[in-house]
Amino acid sequence: MEAFNNNAWCSFLFGVLLLSGSFVVFANAETHYHEFIVQATKVKRLCKTHNTITVNGQYPGPTLEINDGDTLVVKVTNKARYNLTIHWHGIRQMRTAWADGPEFVTQCPIRPGSSYTYRFTVQGQEGTLWWHAHSSWLRATVYGALIIHPAAGSSYPFTKPMRENVLLLGEWWDANPIDVVREATRTGAAPNVSNAYTINGQPGDFYNCSRKDTVIVPIDAGETNLLRVINAALNQELFFTVANHMLTVVGADASYTKPFTTNVLMLGPGQTTDVLILGNQVPARYYIAARAYQSAQGAPFDNTTTTAILEYKSAPCPAKGLISTPVSATLPAFNDTNTANTFTTSFRSPKQVAVPITIDESLFFTVGLGLFNCPKNFHSSRCQGPNGTRFGASMNNVSFVLPSNFSLLQAAHQGIPGVFTTDFPANPPVTFDYTGNVSRALWQPVPATKVYKLKFGSRVQVVLQGTNIFTGENHPIHLHGYDFYVLAIGFGNFNPQTDSAKFNLVDPPLRNTIAVPVSGWAVIRFVADNPGVWIMHCHLDVHITWGLSMAFLVENGVGKLQSLEPPPADYPVC
Ligand SMILES: *[C@@H]1O[C@H](CO)[C@@H](O)[C@H](O)[C@H]1NC(C)=O
Ligand SMILES: *[C@@H]1O[C@H](CO)[C@@H](O)[C@H](O)[C@H]1NC(C)=O
Ligand SMILES: *[C@@H]1O[C@H](CO)[C@@H](O)[C@H](O)[C@H]1NC(C)=O
Ligand SMILES: *[C@@H]1O[C@H](CO)[C@@H](O)[C@H](O)[C@H]1NC(C)=O
Ligand SMILES: *[C@@H]1O[C@H](CO)[C@@H](O)[C@H](O)[C@H]1NC(C)=O
Ligand SMILES: *[C@@H]1O[C@H](CO)[C@@H](O)[C@H](O)[C@H]1NC(C)=O
Ligand SMILES: *[C@@H]1O[C@H](CO)[C@@H](O)[C@H](O)[C@H]1NC(C)=O
Ligand SMILES: *[C@@H]1O[C@H](CO)[C@@H](O)[C@H](O)[C@H]1NC(C)=O
Ligand SMILES: *[C@@H]1O[C@H](CO)[C@@H](O)[C@H](O)[C@H]1NC(C)=O
Repeated sequence: MEAFNNNAWCSFLFGVLLLSGSFVVFANAETHYHEFIVQATKVKRLCKTHNTITVNGQYPGPTLEINDGDTLVVKVTNKARYNLTIHWHGIRQMRTAWADGPEFVTQCPIRPGSSYTYRFTVQGQEGTLWWHAHSSWLRATVYGALIIHPAAGSSYPFTKPMRENVLLLGEWWDANPIDVVREATRTGAAPNVSNAYTINGQPGDFYNCSRKDTVIVPIDAGETNLLRVINAALNQELFFTVANHMLTVVGADASYTKPFTTNVLMLGPGQTTDVLILGNQVPARYYIAARAYQSAQGAPFDNTTTTAILEYKSAPCPAKGLISTPVSATLPAFNDTNTANTFTTSFRSPKQVAVPITIDESLFFTVGLGLFNCPKNFHSSRCQGPNGTRFGASMNNVSFVLPSNFSLLQAAHQGIPGVFTTDFPANPPVTFDYTGNVSRALWQPVPATKVYKLKFGSRVQVVLQGTNIFTGENHPIHLHGYDFYVLAIGFGNFNPQTDSAKFNLVDPPLRNTIAVPVSGWAVIRFVADNPGVWIMHCHLDVHITWGLSMAFLVENGVGKLQSLEPPPADYPVC
């Protein structure tokens, strides 16, 4: 594989597709071939060089750009020393769950030295998505943007912007992120927080050794430009702003939204927000800035601020060596839940949408942290969580454990017993005051690999109820394989009698990740029209590590078009 030639690879595949004849060709739809070589690369940040795991030596990785209706074929070769998978965040993967990516859920890892080719077609999605590693904490540095332009012949539902820029918000450790998570897994304590946030891989002006590489975003007076903002940070919700400029939100998670104007965005990890920005200020340099929205009280967090610079092309030329200081940006207080909530609840679909009204599956899932009491045979060095415990997390008191011998999808597809059970509870096993002072007796969840079975086509409602176990916190919950409507969001315990009246059944936003408010709830609906095994999890990676996940097993419907495709020939097994 060492000297695999990219062009040879493309023409080889093209030949296969032509010969196979089973490939459906859409009018003007294209197939894009890419090769991702995942490898350690020297990356210097914060004055220090690390052997960082990257794609094709780039950090962040390459931006993929396609049109709606196109097919992506990405051959991923793992030249790193860790197990690896890649997830195409927000892509629906209709009938192609084999290409979704979460390790041990839809595939076994691509082992060091091996390859796997992800193939999928994008249908009916437009806007900003991204791709990232879905194995341990590799996504700290293995990520990039995935832009879906309108299909050939169609256009944006807003005036075509003059320029488009991707702004990937990330998180940087002055350490190997895999060492950080391994240390936390060993000790049971919370992992070290990051040392910097980044915009397109650069920390910006407020960090040591970073100023010379601060990202410049060009604009010109009178221009309206599109910024595609992606929260690719590992463990932190972020506020985002541009000094002196208003932002008009036009999309999120690759769905258009009714435009609304704001001066600050809040994105949970996994979420994307497309905004229009008008160059209507004095031509100069303005800070673009992001820092933490920290909803958990008392927990340590990275309180630094990352910056880029919005630079007017017609700004007066600075005298030699005297670059003008950008206009400073103001961000909300770290704990400003009001601002976060005002933003999150401002989203609407552009038009009336077909929300499922009759519900076949009414589910109620608690989401939150937990603490495991330490087993007697554990050394105290492994019980460094609060009061000699180990951190955990759960949904409906089940702390999700990944299998290690088969992927859930392979086990489901081939009927291999003993890998998972189908008794994930539809409701919490115990009813309690979820957002009150929760009794210590309820804090310890049960580790298990349980899925919830859904019949093809069933109409599903899930109440996602945050808990105050250990601490209340905002949880960005991401569902694979689906977009869902967000009917309502609120604080406290969800009350079916009074809160159902607040449901937006007219124009709720379509998302793939919803930030469930601290000590609050969110209600989502979707139709289970995509067979496969689909993980739903908190997108704070530290919480996935602790078990804040579950999976839906969506059965095949009737006939080929409602059934999962067969697995690819190079599908990685364990
Ligand atoms: C985590 O932080 C502690 C304290 O600063 C440090 O001693 C330790 O080496 C860090 N761990 C990793 C994996 O970087
Ligand atoms: C930046 O460098 C200065 C001088 O070496 C040092 O005192 C400071 O702690 C550093 N700041 C950070 C955030 O590392
Ligand atoms: C960030 O936290 C450090 C250490 O707790 C503190 O000294 C510093 O003032 C904080 N910075 C901000 C901007 O809050
Ligand atoms: C937010 O933090 C400030 C101090 O930084 C504190 O005074 C205030 O009570 C906090 N607000 C909430 C809602 O926790
Ligand atoms: C830890 O123990 C102390 C003293 O017994 C207690 O006050 C505190 O609430 C405990 N914390 C947790 C998280 O259990
Ligand atoms: C897979 O692993 C699980 C958990 O270790 C075990 O119970 C099961 O028997 C294994 N299944 C097979 C088919 O090896
Ligand atoms: C929560 O309940 C525990 C035990 O009932 C009690 O000791 C503690 O003081 C309570 N905490 C708060 C904040 O009310
Ligand atoms: C979770 O299950 C364990 C074991 O049955 C129990 O001790 C604990 O109270 C349960 N907690 C909740 C919130 O259901
Ligand atoms: C890598 O994946 C294999 C299964 O393909 C698994 O057995 C092994 O434990 C994994 N290695 C690590 C370090 O997780």
